[in-house]
Amino acid sequence: VRVDRITVASERGPYQVVVGHGLLARLGELFDLAGLPRPSSLVSNRTVGPLHGRSAADASGLPPPLELPDGERFKRWEQVEAVSNRWLDDGLHRGSLVVALGGGVVTDLVGFAAAVFERGIPWVALPTTLLAMVDAAVGGKTGVNLDRGKNLVGAFWPPRLVVADVATLDTLPRRELQAGLAEVVKAAWVGDHGLLELLHRPPSPEGWQQLVTRAVRVKVAVVSADERETGPRQALNLGHTVGHALEAATGFERFLHGEAVAWGLLAATSLSRRRGLISPRAADRLADAVARVGPLPPLHDLQVEGVLAHLAHDKKRDRQGPAWVLPTDDGVVLGQRVAQDEIRDALHRLREASAAGGPAVAAAPDG
Ligand SMILES: NC(=O)c1ccc[n+]([C@@H]2O[C@H](COP(=O)([O-])OP(=O)(O)OC[C@H]3O[C@@H](n4cnc5c(N)ncnc54)[C@H](O)[C@@H]3O)[C@@H](O)[C@H]2O)c1
Ligand SMILES: [Zn+2]
Repeated sequence: VRVDRITVASERGPYQVVVGHGLLARLGELFDLAGLPRPSSLVSNRTVGPLHGRSAADASGLPPPLELPDGERFKRWEQVEAVSNRWLDDGLHRGSLVVALGGGVVTDLVGFAAAVFERGIPWVALPTTLLAMVDAAVGGKTGVNLDRGKNLVGAFWPPRLVVADVATLDTLPRRELQAGLAEVVKAAWVGDHGLLELLHRPPSPEGWQQLVTRAVRVKVAVVSADERETGPRQALNLGHTVGHALEAATGFERFLHGEAVAWGLLAATSLSRRRGLISPRAADRLADAVARVGPLPPLHDLQVEGVLAHLAHDKKRDRQGPAWVLPTDDGVVLGQRVAQDEIRDALHRLREASAAGGPAVAAAPDG
């Protein structure tokens, strides 16, 4: 079996992202190769644990999975405390290795618990959603939500190893897979336009492996250059300014994160086009890639002023409002200031595009 390895340079030492098919059955070997001890704890959730955790544990001599409740609403302090108490009960100490198996919710939460348990213990991420493979499990950010917002408490605590077994994607609901693909489109536009071609083909196991590997390479290249997000890492926020505002304005209920990002990519494309930052041809290519990801929840009933109000509260803003990442013909341009009227127009164009039948036509009103 071919395995892809990507090395991430981190201020806490380098670690590898290993991508392949059927890797959960070979964890023992992968841990040995990485020079890691046997894990003392495997943490998953009530959905992923039964699907993949128990067999992975049996095959690789890991402890049976601790199964947390499933859902973004459980990415909270209470669960960090519950996990920490369990680790104490099980006799874990500073040298113990812990493993997170699941989507971004589990990896963010367990990574954060590992960061704060006895002031920091090593951890390994086994991402099982496309989004977690190409985004959440790579880069070292961990954290939990507060009532007042997502990821408001966290730590920078990179894992010692990431193992992405693309076989786990077989059980992922289609909608989750599509939402992850929107992040792949984003990564492709930021750093690997050729990756967009993979979206034309029907997915095979090798296809998924290639897609994940190439998207991870883009994130790793950007993150290695800028671990703490002071500059180039902002490129990965492409589509996220409007995406976050759409999620917030709809009470985090209508869109999966990736779906909101997909609309956000179309909004950013439309803004770039109006400003002449991107050629019509490249803009069509990006919009076409977004459309190919799959149908998106509609926003024909979008409250444009409500979204604008949420944009005014963007976490990545400064005194002049959010700094936008906008697509260009061969990548992105950072730090763009966009006037309220331009944003309002772009949101109205999205709304019309949705009313007219979908994301495929979102770029058309400009042309
Ligand atoms: N740390 C970072 O840099 C970073 C980056 C991006 C996103 N995130 C975080 O990631 C989270 C979102 O992650 P997500 O999209 O993976 O959501 P998620 O973890 O909630 O997973 C989505 C759903 O799929 C289920 N699932 C996971 N793997 C499965 C599988 N193989 N088969 C069947 N079902 C499976 C989960 O139980 C869940 O119900 C958010 O909390 C976000 O803040 C973090
Ligand atoms: Zn994202």
